[in-house]
Amino acid sequence: MVRRALVTGGASGIGLASAHRLNTDGLEVFVADVNEVQLEAVEPTVSGVGILDVSDPGAVNALVAELSPIDVLVNSAGVVGPNLPIWDVPDDGWAHTMAVNLTGTFNTMKAVLPQMRERGWGRIVNIASIAGKEGNPNLSAYSASKAGVIGLTKSVAKEVAQDGVIVNSVAPAVIATPMNEDTAQHVLDYMISKIPMGRVGQPEEVAALVSWLASDECSFSTGQAYDISGGRATY
Ligand SMILES: NC(=O)c1ccc[n+]([C@@H]2O[C@H](COP(=O)([O-])OP(=O)(O)OC[C@H]3O[C@@H](n4cnc5c(N)ncnc54)[C@H](O)[C@@H]3O)[C@@H](O)[C@H]2O)c1
Repeated sequence: MVRRALVTGGASGIGLASAHRLNTDGLEVFVADVNEVQLEAVEPTVSGVGILDVSDPGAVNALVAELSPIDVLVNSAGVVGPNLPIWDVPDDGWAHTMAVNLTGTFNTMKAVLPQMRERGWGRIVNIASIAGKEGNPNLSAYSASKAGVIGLTKSVAKEVAQDGVIVNSVAPAVIATPMNEDTAQHVLDYMISKIPMGRVGQPEEVAALVSWLASDECSFSTGQAYDISGGRATY
């Protein structure tokens, strides 16, 4: 039986690398993203693409119904949000970051879990961030949303622990993706200086971890926030 995966935010970066990796692993992979232009470029390399705003529960439910059954869900859709001290964070910037990063993850998990539980098998991998563990200055909305993703993962993992469904998150440090293209070099240098391996990570390295978490081989580990930070976080 060929398993089917849905990768949100799969038109770019970690999501795209994960989609390719899961394809290589033999899964049928569907990519959903809010960015139509990027999706067109991805289309030939995966089984299907769909335009989706993960913060819209109606759209999420409709896409999941169309693609069902989904065996593997990778939540990689995300935005950085306001890069400002909290007193300057606009209310709508806070709300949008939470809506995409946290509520978007809630929406997709809520939509796929009933059918995963019914079939007795499922794997969910949520892309969180080291920011959710440590709290990055001037990224309060992002850090809070990713801490929320880690908590959401832990909670739901326990709810479905006896249903054959395994739910984990990953917490990368800085990864070379378009999300960091506009980051100033001195900021990147500062982030790299905190990484014992002395370099940024590659999206394929995160995809390798996603691949294992989405597989049968991940069988006795759920509710975790898997570190992938070049040694920055050793907890
Ligand atoms: N790059 C890093 O350094 C890093 C580090 C830690 C965690 N992360 C997380 O990894 C995930 C992927 O980030 P990336 O680095 O690949 O960035 P990216 O910008 O390359 O990819 C993110 C994708 O999410 C899509 N997206 C944004 N809003 C969406 C929405 N409302 N609905 C559906 N799709 C939406 C974008 O169009 C984009 O294709 C994010 O959740 C990010 O927070 C990234």
